[in-house]
Amino acid sequence: MNSGAMDRLDPHKLPRHLAIIMDGNGRWARKRLLNRVSGHEAGAESVREVVRCCRELGIAHLTLYAFSKENWQRPATEVNALWRLLKRFIHSELPDLIDKQIRMRHLGDPEGIPADVWTELQSAIERTASFDQLSVNLALNYGGRHEIVRAAANFARDLAAGRASVDRLTPETFSAYLYAGDIPDPDLLIRTSGECRISNFLLWQLAYTEIYFTDTLWPDFRRRQLLDALVDYQGRERRFGKTSEQVQD
Ligand code: FPP
Repeated sequence: MNSGAMDRLDPHKLPRHLAIIMDGNGRWARKRLLNRVSGHEAGAESVREVVRCCRELGIAHLTLYAFSKENWQRPATEVNALWRLLKRFIHSELPDLIDKQIRMRHLGDPEGIPADVWTELQSAIERTASFDQLSVNLALNYGGRHEIVRAAANFARDLAAGRASVDRLTPETFSAYLYAGDIPDPDLLIRTSGECRISNFLLWQLAYTEIYFTDTLWPDFRRRQLLDALVDYQGRERRFGKTSEQVQD
């Protein structure tokens, strides 16, 4: 591990939940005169390294934006290649996930995910369900607005059936209707490739999340870059609406 950054890292102040918008695979490939799919394949290597590093550090949740609802608008060849890559990744990583007691979870709309990918994903989710070392939450066919609207619709259904009450509706009770209401909100969001927006990712959950933007393209984002982001995060003061004096007490 990068000893410089490791030395500067406080093991007691790590994020409990790290979320990442993995961006820049296409540009990474173009710079090397490769096709876009090669960029996604190189990006999968970064995923492997970041998962391993989070496991070693003891981070509890890692949520990765791997396929958004908007990604369907890309050329069909790229969409198909991405799903093939995701299926292959889930299949090939499963033994290592089991070995390291890493749980896999899914955030997103099951509707529309290719059947063979869904089967692979379900198998990984079921076979890792009891693990608690690190939870890798793959956001696949995910959209933040869709998640909130779906939660509202499910709440309305419960209301109509007498299973919920408007008087008891709070941000906490509403969270239970989200894809994974039991996962704590992200402490840190990383977005690579120099883009400074959140692109419909975890709109509800990012309310108080620290955001780290870096110019590094996702395939170049490895252990050292992750440690640098974590060191930067540890320098932040999280106030959650309070004053600086209050949080320092
Ligand atoms: C954004 O780069 C990346 C994606 C749309 C897909 C993310 C997928 C991976 C990192 C592949 C592997 C993932 C897993 C979980 C194994 P982009 O294509 O938008 O890049 P660009 O903005 O440079 O064109």
